[in-house]
Amino acid sequence: MCINKYWFVMVMIVLGISGSPRQQATEHVLTEALKILEKKGFETRLWTVRGKDIGYCTHCDYCLVEKRCVLQDDMQELYVHLTEATGIILATPVYNGGVSAQLKAVMDRCRAAVATDKNVLKGKIGMGIAVGGDRAGGQELALMQIHTFYILNGMIPVSGGYFGANVGATFWSKDNLEEVKQDEEGFRSLKKTVKHFAQYLNDYGNIKGKTGT
Ligand SMILES: Cc1cc2nc3c(=O)[nH]c(=O)nc-3n(C[C@H](O)[C@H](O)[C@H](O)COP(=O)(O)O)c2cc1C
Repeated sequence: MCINKYWFVMVMIVLGISGSPRQQATEHVLTEALKILEKKGFETRLWTVRGKDIGYCTHCDYCLVEKRCVLQDDMQELYVHLTEATGIILATPVYNGGVSAQLKAVMDRCRAAVATDKNVLKGKIGMGIAVGGDRAGGQELALMQIHTFYILNGMIPVSGGYFGANVGATFWSKDNLEEVKQDEEGFRSLKKTVKHFAQYLNDYGNIKGKTGT
């Protein structure tokens, strides 16, 4: 056994992915979540589908054989971020009671990342944010879709707990940015969820992020 004098604890990376094609409510509240996490000492990265070239998974199974995706588009940079992150926040606008098509495409394209390394997402901590134009427009359904993605990939899904954030952070945007900024209940659910998320990162965050020499 090798015992050395110094331990270096690397800062854990939290990756926030915005599933909105606009720079509006979803991106705003995700940015606020990342700001809180930065204050708690995490390194944060924001990645958005906005303006990105993201093809659909066509189930060609190229990735199962070649261990990489056949599509050379903007998912390539996201694969790197996903690998490096210990915590992942998927934030989505609610589209027809679920996640946006753009975010769903990202989820499906993660098949190639998992085909390349079956443990790529395993043990990472995940939380969700859903922003709907209506007060009860399907935010919780969208969050359950996000949590299902986490569970399927061996991740640890985190909610904000009872009394306001039962399955995660939910916002009512009334379809615009200024209204979401006024959504006090939404921000309460966000703070509760981020608090749990940070606790889980500290308690169970991937040990790959902590190295000793
Ligand atoms: C195609 C489409 C479907 C939508 N479906 C819903 C819905 O089912 N429930 C809801 O509450 N809002 C729905 N909305 C409204 C958006 O969720 C809402 O405006 C949200 O704030 C958009 O996020 P963004 O501002 O980040 O783009 C829909 C919007 C679009 C464009």
